[in-house]
Amino acid sequence: MNQSAKFWDKIAKRYSKRPVADEASYQEKLRVTHTYFRPDAEVLEFGCGTGSTAINHSPYVRHIHAIDISSKMIEIAQEKADEGKVSNVTFEQSTIEGVSVPDQSLDAVLGLSILHLLENKEGAIAKVHRMLKPGGVFVTSTTCLGDSMKFFKLIAPVGKLFGLMPLLKVFTTGELSASLTDAGFEIDHQWQPGKSNAVFIVAKKAE
Ligand SMILES: C[S@@+](CC[C@H](N)C(=O)[O-])C[C@H]1O[C@@H](n2cnc3c(N)ncnc32)[C@H](O)[C@@H]1O
Repeated sequence: MNQSAKFWDKIAKRYSKRPVADEASYQEKLRVTHTYFRPDAEVLEFGCGTGSTAINHSPYVRHIHAIDISSKMIEIAQEKADEGKVSNVTFEQSTIEGVSVPDQSLDAVLGLSILHLLENKEGAIAKVHRMLKPGGVFVTSTTCLGDSMKFFKLIAPVGKLFGLMPLLKVFTTGELSASLTDAGFEIDHQWQPGKSNAVFIVAKKAE
């Protein structure tokens, strides 16, 4: 098992009990995302955590394939789906790097609080672009530590070394936007509830 899976497995139970930090912003992100869905939409969520967001979105689409590197997160997500009798979300332990999805097969991909945790976000963004149908959307909410906390660049490797923190990559909102547009996306919607909050972006693949 790799170090990242170990870290997230260890905190999965606590993570599932943690209340959403900013409920109003979370609800607004759900609302905006729903406006991009259609009842026949095929969706992938990577880094789905304990599944609440996928379950929330499930009535608005045909199917969601929700993946996470942590088997413990997936176990909790599956329990929630079973309890709620949600049948159109398939939870699977998998990574964005390893998951196999045919090109141009998806209407939407969600990557929420995850891009800053990846070794290679450009690789993930390019893969998302390939998997989306023309006109499909990539919905992200990403902490851009480079905007306000550049010092994390120094601390993060030490925290990771001692297993206290996950891998954390430091980049700015501008750099994230550039990564998306370089991969061929157009930014269709961008919103940041506050200066130090995650930036919410809906990026569209050209028709
Ligand atoms: C900060 S949590 C976010 C969970 C959820 N998306 C949310 O917004 O609450 C990051 C999640 O990404 C998962 N993760 C980390 N690296 C991953 C990867 N390479 N592929 C898939 N999931 C990953 C972790 O296990 C964890 O559940």
